[in-house]
Amino acid sequence: MLGVVGAGTMGNGIAQVFAMHGHDVALLDINEDAVARGRAAIEKSLGRFVKKEKMTADEAAAIVARVKTTTSAKDLADADLVVEAIVENLAVKQKVFGELDREVKPDGILASNTSSIWITEIAAATKRPDRVIGMHFMNPVPLMKLIEVIRGHDTSDATTAAVFDLSKNLGKIPVEVNDSPGFVSNRVLMPMINEAIFCLHENVGTAEAIDTVMKLGMAHPMGPLALADFVGLDVCLAILEVLHRDLGDDKYRPCPLLRKMVMAGHLGRKSGRGFYSYD
Ligand code: 3HC
Repeated sequence: MLGVVGAGTMGNGIAQVFAMHGHDVALLDINEDAVARGRAAIEKSLGRFVKKEKMTADEAAAIVARVKTTTSAKDLADADLVVEAIVENLAVKQKVFGELDREVKPDGILASNTSSIWITEIAAATKRPDRVIGMHFMNPVPLMKLIEVIRGHDTSDATTAAVFDLSKNLGKIPVEVNDSPGFVSNRVLMPMINEAIFCLHENVGTAEAIDTVMKLGMAHPMGPLALADFVGLDVCLAILEVLHRDLGDDKYRPCPLLRKMVMAGHLGRKSGRGFYSYD
């Protein structure tokens, strides 16, 4: 059995992928509304596969049935591995990992889907830092092939090997990296997104022009501003702040326009407005 903590976009996508590959899953969030929204998102995503005849309605129903939702960490006690996918806040993550450390069986692996927080610092909240690791899935989880596997200071070879095996079993491609701000994915992606926002801020081009240059010129599936809306502008800002603070280099300074948009509540797709409007 596998566990997932957090039923938001990333958490429900991870639970879905686990269940699609035959695993029983316990999906935990703080209240019934949150887990119900997570289950609805899984059903919606599976519905797209059914519509495209990539699976039958019966197969989709069996996948949904493998996901048990819960609001109690005690239901994760037997999990071989738990992935945490909650808010990007160190104090909250450390509290959750302390609780998981008490509730999950001693040989269970505790993974974090964090996009920028040190795995080593999360692991320090547990008595099993050798069995704490980063398992960074990409959005949308059911479609994206990569899992960035991040080794904390004390992550063991056995834990890394187990996560590699599981990732391959999920049809994903794991890549091992070491613990460092933003790891590889966001250390490279976020400065590109930030630079695209500076281009808009300095009127080098319109949002459409900037995105079209990168889509057609560099064969990116989405332009950087559309991708920022997809990831969430608050998430982009939080990651850039970690890069800026922890690497101490002004090249990671978040663009003032990004700050202002987050202050205004224009967070991208999830708020209906970011660099583009979403109905
Ligand atoms: N579940 C099931 N199917 C889905 C889906 C989901 N959640 N989301 C999209 N799809 C399907 C659609 O139904 C469609 O199927 P079809 O081609 O058979 O009709 C297909 O995927 C393509 O979707 P769309 O036509 O809506 O749009 P695109 O062709 O643009 O593809 C995309 C969507 C796969 C998201 C593509 O634009 C893409 O790869 N974008 C880049 C995503 C990316 O960079 N992700 C990483 C973000 S960074 C991150 O996650 C790290 C974090 O720490 C910040």
